[in-house]
Amino acid sequence: MTVPHSVRIAALVLATTAFYGYVGQLVPQKEVQPPQETVLKADMTTADMVKIGGELMVGKGLCLTCHTIGKSGALRFPDLEGVAARATTRIPGLNEIEYFAKSLYEPDSFIVPGFNPGMPVINKPPIGLTDQEILCVIAFLQTLGGTPTVTLQTSHAYYKAPGATPAAPGGAPGNATPTNATPAKGPVTP
Ligand code: HEC
Repeated sequence: MTVPHSVRIAALVLATTAFYGYVGQLVPQKEVQPPQETVLKADMTTADMVKIGGELMVGKGLCLTCHTIGKSGALRFPDLEGVAARATTRIPGLNEIEYFAKSLYEPDSFIVPGFNPGMPVINKPPIGLTDQEILCVIAFLQTLGGTPTVTLQTSHAYYKAPGATPAAPGGAPGNATPTNATPAKGPVTP
């Protein structure tokens, strides 16, 4: 008995479709999501900031694609273990918060002895961390050989925290000079 061509073709088409359909649903469906935006709550504690800062250093900040923490030997990029202790000795007059801010916003303004320039500006694309995210990163850096003290209200030379109380006369440590501090938001009278 001969099966007509059209029937054979139809059977082949059916079998092929069924086979690929079967294979298709075996393949795990992986949806690629854009990196999750970290939600920074205004009432975050320093400890929360340290945690988020650590995540940012691995993820969006790309810090650990260059830097190591706790590695020695001939390194291309400065190891960050104990960096909070070294930070205060880098530039006379800068505490570790101001030094870290300078390292992140203006990396080429000071080059760590023994290393070459090449650190990207962290608040600009492609990395583009926000000012608040950078405060979290600074909180994490402070844990490497120091004690984290920054909050989301911390101002430094590159960032004025909104509503930050102007530094007391003489200047509180960690607070930039209040020259162009934004006045506290109040009711606006027309
Ligand atoms: C493309 C590689 C690269 C990436 C990415 C990078 N850095 Fe760097 N970083 C460097 C280089 C090179 C230096 C040394 C040169 C200099 O001082 O600018 C440096 C220096 C530093 C210093 C000064 C260290 C010291 O001992 O004084 C700090 C702090 C730092 N980086 C933090 C970070 C953080 C935090 C991130 C992520 C938000 C980051 N870096 C991302 C390359 C990188």
